[in-house]
Amino acid sequence: MNTASRTTDPVTSADGSPGALRHDALALSAAAQARSAVLEERLVDDPRQFRVLTGDRPTGRLHLGHYFGTLLNRVRLQDLGVEMFVVVADYQVLTDRDIADDPTGYVEELVLDYLAVGLDPSRSTIFTHSSVPALNQLLLPFLSLVSVAELGRNPTVKDEIAHSRQSSVSGLMFTYPVHQAADILFCKANLVPVGQDQLPHLETTRTVARRFNDRYGAGAAVFPQPDALLSSAPLLLGTDGTKMSKSRGNAITLAADADETARLIKGAKTDADRHITYDPAARPEVSSLLLLAALCQNLAPEQVAAGIGSAGAAALKRTVTEAVNEHLAPVRARRREFAQDRAYLRRTLREGNERAGEIADTTLAEVRTAMKNHY
Ligand code: TRP
Repeated sequence: MNTASRTTDPVTSADGSPGALRHDALALSAAAQARSAVLEERLVDDPRQFRVLTGDRPTGRLHLGHYFGTLLNRVRLQDLGVEMFVVVADYQVLTDRDIADDPTGYVEELVLDYLAVGLDPSRSTIFTHSSVPALNQLLLPFLSLVSVAELGRNPTVKDEIAHSRQSSVSGLMFTYPVHQAADILFCKANLVPVGQDQLPHLETTRTVARRFNDRYGAGAAVFPQPDALLSSAPLLLGTDGTKMSKSRGNAITLAADADETARLIKGAKTDADRHITYDPAARPEVSSLLLLAALCQNLAPEQVAAGIGSAGAAALKRTVTEAVNEHLAPVRARRREFAQDRAYLRRTLREGNERAGEIADTTLAEVRTAMKNHY
């Protein structure tokens, strides 16, 4: 996505009130980075202070970009002892397309990816957004807390609208940050692992929480104002040299087998210089392949480059293929096992949905009490 277009928005709303949504991307990002460093320390000291919510829209199989970008981090947080909620955001597939093709199939693929990388349903609650009615009911009071002008200024929404394949902007797309606020606040999560582009959304969640507390809390905080935990994961390019993406056909998925992986990497874009060096600015495609091998082998990309030297792109691709296939072998083996056990998969979601539903019911009851909706 184009980040340059996101930095030009005004900092405050027209009334300049302190509660206004701030969308200065650079300021947000610097502050969030500093804050994330502090949070990382606290996570290790006292993981039980934290409840994390993260999730994905079920639009296809997850790939290496997701794996190194977010999935490993979720498993790390889970293993630290943080309480984890993972939303399979099935309703929200409709933000940038008219219909969700094969919702059930994609949900199951996504959950298989989660289980394969090591998310453990006894410690992490995995649930589908559409199955938790009380979560979705939070949307109505939450929508009353933000203005149309504020939503219109959200730089990530603007960016997504600019790149949308749809001919017009749906209300769902326009209100997306508020849906995320409901996803996060229903379980009172206080920590949300995000990439840079999600910071404005999280700012909306914080604003919704603060305004709800101010308006209805009578001095008590009904909702926490969740923190962003910025990931330091490097950006992986796809095999065509552009951002790795489910929809671009340039992604190596977790579910792919070793042969398919070899074929994809064989077709990857490189350049004419036989001497392999790590130089992300001048040689983005070669460098991204080196980075991929390095992440898989737990080495620095420069070390991988030195090992290949002047052996050329074919040798680089052989190295990357071996590294990826070896690293993913246990993940893929687990994925195949879980894929055999559909009953377990369905039970995982049923239990996750039940647990999320109970928590959402409790939160909605508190919200109704705070709003004095007693009938
Ligand atoms: N926006 C995420 C995606 O497009 C999925 C998501 C939905 C999410 N609700 C969330 C992520 C709340 C973090 C917090 O994949």
